[in-house]
Formats: sequence, structure tokens, C-alpha cells
Amino acid sequence: MKRLVNLTVNGTARELAVEPRRTLLALLREDLGLTGTKQGCAEGDCGACAVLLDGEPVNACLVLALEAAGCEVLTIEGVAADGTLDPLQQAFIDAGAVQCGFCTPGMVLVARALLARHAAPTPREVRHAIAGNLCRCTGYQKIEDAILLAARRRAAGGTP
Ligand code: FES
Ligand code: FES
Repeated sequence: MKRLVNLTVNGTARELAVEPRRTLLALLREDLGLTGTKQGCAEGDCGACAVLLDGEPVNACLVLALEAAGCEVLTIEGVAADGTLDPLQQAFIDAGAVQCGFCTPGMVLVARALLARHAAPTPREVRHAIAGNLCRCTGYQKIEDAILLAARRRAAGGTP
């Protein structure tokens, strides 16, 4: 039997009726049409489905929709503001960290959580933060470069 879940997604309050076993990933992609959150393994192994739940990265395929009740969810669709890319998104482009792009939404969100905790992370901290996010294209170096670039730009007060 379906149950109501209330949560906030990208700043908008939502109320949906969901089956108890429905995942947050299915709610986002299928109920809300937010397909920027990717489905890879659906088993918690790839990080393609990473979103922020009250600011913390989670794999949405492992979170039940009902567990997100009362929480703030941020997906990649909520990152850009007023049509302007988020500085992390811009840094991914500038550093050449986007190839097929499948991993990019999850990477950007995990990086966002990292920079919220550590304004100036070390390369090792960056690698640790993205350890649960698989990328088959870049070899990870350019992703690390992008996250460090975003941190440097923020510290320099250039790109906000
Ligand atoms: S789809 Fe969720 S971790 Fe792979
Ligand atoms: S850019 Fe293709 S999987 Fe990362």
C-alpha cells in the first residue's frame, strides 16, 4: 500500500504517494523526471546516483523514498542558479573533466559536499571523497583537477 512522503527537492516541497520499497532514485527519476541523477549499478557500487540528502552525499539507489521524508534533497538539476553553472560545474568543463558525462552529476554533488566541509582539500582528500564514484572515461586525474580548481577559484574570490 502506498504511503505519502513529504520532502524538499531542489528547494521545492513535494508530496508523493510511494510504495514502501520505492527508492529515492526511482522517485527522482521516474516520479519527478529528474533524470540528471543517473542509474548505473542500482546496487550502491558506482555512485552515479549520488545526491545530497540534508547536505550529505548518498547513493539514491540505496535510500528508500520513505527514508527521505522531511529531508532536503539536492540533485544536479538544483545546482545551477538562474541559468548560470555552479562554479564546480564550470570547473569540470574548464578542466576537461567531462567525457561521456555519466558520472558527472554524482561527482559534482560529492565534490560539493567535500568543499562544504573542506574549503581547501588536498588531492588525497579529493580522491578519498570521490572513491565511491566510478568513472570509466577520465582516469580521475581531470576530475581531481576540476575539484581543486573550483576550490582555488573560491579561495581567490574569482569565480564565486
Ligand atoms: S546506481 Fe546507485 S550506486 Fe550505482
Ligand atoms: S566521464 Fe564517462 S564515466 Fe566519467
